[in-house]
Amino acid sequence: MNTELDVSEIFSNYAFEGYVKVGSLIPKFIQEQTDEIADLVKKAVAGKDSRILDCACGTGVLLHQLALDDKINAELYGWDISQGMIKVAKETTHPSIKYSVRNAEQPETNMSFDVVVCKNALYYMEPERAFYSFSQLIAPEGHLIFTSLNRNADNIKLKLRLMRIGIYDSSVRPFFDALLGKIPLSDAIGSLRMAKANIQYQKLARATANQAIPLPRLHELLSANSFEVSEVREDHYVGTQYLIDAVKL
Ligand SMILES: C[S@@+](CC[C@H](N)C(=O)[O-])C[C@H]1O[C@@H](n2cnc3c(N)ncnc32)[C@H](O)[C@@H]1O
Repeated sequence: MNTELDVSEIFSNYAFEGYVKVGSLIPKFIQEQTDEIADLVKKAVAGKDSRILDCACGTGVLLHQLALDDKINAELYGWDISQGMIKVAKETTHPSIKYSVRNAEQPETNMSFDVVVCKNALYYMEPERAFYSFSQLIAPEGHLIFTSLNRNADNIKLKLRLMRIGIYDSSVRPFFDALLGKIPLSDAIGSLRMAKANIQYQKLARATANQAIPLPRLHELLSANSFEVSEVREDHYVGTQYLIDAVKL
């Protein structure tokens, strides 16, 4: 990423503050998106023994959901550049999932996967390197399922939305959720302790908004790396993301 910020360190702090101190607060915000992507993964591997990789898996929320699904017969792998995220993933998700600390842009492996997922993470990577790496990792007819910020969205709106995720969703909304009985009050109080991680994350979020890739460029990158787009959806998690399913030729 073109910034001085250390993504790995920021996410390690965020993992610690957000997931260890505050319990499972953050995964609750991304449940809808996780469900939608899990459905796409299921469709891609239906009825087959398969190998699935979540690249930049964070705390492994998606992989955990896939591990618990008895309709999926797959070896599950999770890679992330942040040691903190992988530590939380190992401690909190299904023991069958194989995790490692790895840079998705330079995975250095001969392994091949039927599905690679990359959600809420492409904007921390150099797109050319990331798509080349995905193309090396995915077997012919395998799927790449990823989200990408929508460059056509008004940049100011996007930055505000990203700030909202950092500040409102992590520090204010938990109190509304506690009032509505959706989460325990202790989780909401715990969210206040995330202030330091949130300040770091804000800086990263502002840099992230500049990393959005225009849709025609995404098509170019995919086709240059032998992918054919099978579906483009709007993803509503960051308000302005695409959710794309592409097949390796
Ligand atoms: C916003 S989090 C999303 C985590 C997870 N995919 C989710 O949706 O919950 C972004 C993740 O990307 C990881 N990341 C950023 N750059 C990476 C890279 N080059 N290789 C692997 N992981 C990376 C970060 O450490 C962080 O865990």
